[in-house]
Amino acid sequence: MVSGPDTAPRGADGAPVIEVQGLRTAFGTHVVHENLSLTVRRGEILTIVGGSGSGKTVLLRQILGLETPAAGTVRVFGQAVDQGSAKERFALRQRWGVLFQGGALFSALSVFDNVALPLRELRSLPEAIVRDVVTMRLSLVGLTDDDAHKSPADLSGGMVKRVALARALALDPELVFLDEPTAGLDPTRSDEFVALIRRLHRQLGFTVVMVTHDLDTLFALADRVAVLADKKVIVCAPMDEVLAFDHPFIETFFLGERGRRARELNEARQSGDDEPHDSAEAKATPGARTPPAHPAAEGAAATPVLAVETTHAKEAEDGKP
Ligand SMILES: Nc1ncnc2c1ncn2[C@@H]1O[C@H](COP(=O)(O)OP(=O)(O)O)[C@@H](O)[C@H]1O
Ligand SMILES: [Mg+2]
Repeated sequence: MVSGPDTAPRGADGAPVIEVQGLRTAFGTHVVHENLSLTVRRGEILTIVGGSGSGKTVLLRQILGLETPAAGTVRVFGQAVDQGSAKERFALRQRWGVLFQGGALFSALSVFDNVALPLRELRSLPEAIVRDVVTMRLSLVGLTDDDAHKSPADLSGGMVKRVALARALALDPELVFLDEPTAGLDPTRSDEFVALIRRLHRQLGFTVVMVTHDLDTLFALADRVAVLADKKVIVCAPMDEVLAFDHPFIETFFLGERGRRARELNEARQSGDDEPHDSAEAKATPGARTPPAHPAAEGAAATPVLAVETTHAKEAEDGKP
């Protein structure tokens, strides 16, 4: 399928790219997941929500093969992530990119070298090509050659996220994992980052699995929402179905005051003139969406309202690559 700024996501055909079945995760006697199942379809933006400590980051780590489940299976692109030879697993890892919670840049490396890292790990690309690809990826996320020479310590929070996103996209992945991508950003930077993710998803057509606490981010991006509660995914569906699902967590998380405000804001944004085609209906059907009339104006209509965020030391540590 042809992909470009004005086409639907490439390959948004709904075929499963991730299949988690009967997953059990336990740390000692602490059971985090019990009989958890989840399917992610090609081309969609699937968002995982759940209370703090409900096991969202650990679920991502299970999908990435960084943790071994006590029971159950995780298949990505049809391959079991904890099986196969080292070579097969390495090849599988090249097909996805991860933006870890907190950004997780290597502080001793420049912006350029952080983004170059996944390319250099291949050990087969001439440095001239690495340079070109890094420059291209940085420009995709709105950063310049000047920024390339900076150290992560000299970057704003929004720029750290952009660099981390450029690094996640280094190998042109089919699948992108984003763990709390807008956490810690002020509302304006958060909106900008959401617009960036949306534009890149449309242009490049990758599948997104995203964890977020932030209702603005959720309403703006998610095709489907997976709700993690009671140690499993209690519902995984488009937003309207999730909102109709009867569960105390959903009641508290979506239907309280902050949920109402985020929904209103999202409705206002979707009915605004800036994005006449970006209807909730189109969002709910991966691949069926129409591109915005003014891609450059994406996010311009999104007004900051919420930045619900719970960060604790443990989560900051999760981000270390
Ligand atoms: N390596 C670990 N050892 C012990 N407990 C862990 C470990 N990683 C995560 N946990 C626990 O598992 C639960 C889920 O963690 P996490 O997935 O980070 O939650 P969140 O949904 O906030 O991302 C938490 O209670 C956390 O303390
Ligand atoms: Mg987490």
